[in-house]
Amino acid sequence: MFNTQHFEDSLATSWLGRSFFYFPELDSTNSYAKRMSRIEALHGALIISDAQSAGRGQHQRTWQSEAGENLTFSLVFEPSNQHRLTILTLACALAVADVCGEQAKSSLDLKWPNDVLFKGKKLSGLLTEAIFNGDLLERVVIGIGINVNQETFTEDLASSAISLRSITAKEYSRELLLARILTKIEFYYRLWESRDIDLIRTINKAMLGYGSWTKINVNGRDKEGTFKFLGVNENGALVVLNKDLEVDTFSYEQVRIRID
Ligand code: BTN
Repeated sequence: MFNTQHFEDSLATSWLGRSFFYFPELDSTNSYAKRMSRIEALHGALIISDAQSAGRGQHQRTWQSEAGENLTFSLVFEPSNQHRLTILTLACALAVADVCGEQAKSSLDLKWPNDVLFKGKKLSGLLTEAIFNGDLLERVVIGIGINVNQETFTEDLASSAISLRSITAKEYSRELLLARILTKIEFYYRLWESRDIDLIRTINKAMLGYGSWTKINVNGRDKEGTFKFLGVNENGALVVLNKDLEVDTFSYEQVRIRID
């Protein structure tokens, strides 16, 4: 069971995770964060659960996670505008990659748009959802699942998922790991808010396939030819160079890249 006291004692942030809601079981921490009242769901709130009965992933997929072994949590943000949320998601992924990479003693890769990989296998996935009140952005929920201490995965995930424990053969304190990740996210959030260009550079350097020629899939269709992957720009759009050396940009929803 997640030890909330241990977590609180380890937390060194100034605002992120200071208001937190722990549940032994929930349907989904993202769904809960979206249902919360505005009074509860303050900027920086953390919702964490040991088990999710309906954990959600990208594209209506499910997120499977062994109860009590991993980290499944959501963070609530109230950014001043709705732009550049792709970069905010990637900044959170970078924080996960930094902290878990330190433990794994190996650099981890970010995979556009929202995965953290170790040698091509998924260690963490992020799901960002925005809630609007009319045209106004009310809250952004960033849900993060990290495979921490899970030792085995179901057959369908065995070849594509990995945990920190299976990389290092060590068991981790989820409380300490989460406290460290939140410190990093808080730091990157400030850079994101101030449109720091170095944050974009760091994200791009960590991105799988950055600077290499790749196949891309736009709106569900493979595009002919290969494209040089130039990462995200300061607006959070994905930038590629086509074979005629023309720059194309794509929005987050439109494009997937394929690194073979
Ligand atoms: C993906 O890789 O497709 C995204 C996975 C996101 C999973 C996390 S676990 C905590 C939060 N609650 C959810 O239901 N999903 C996210």
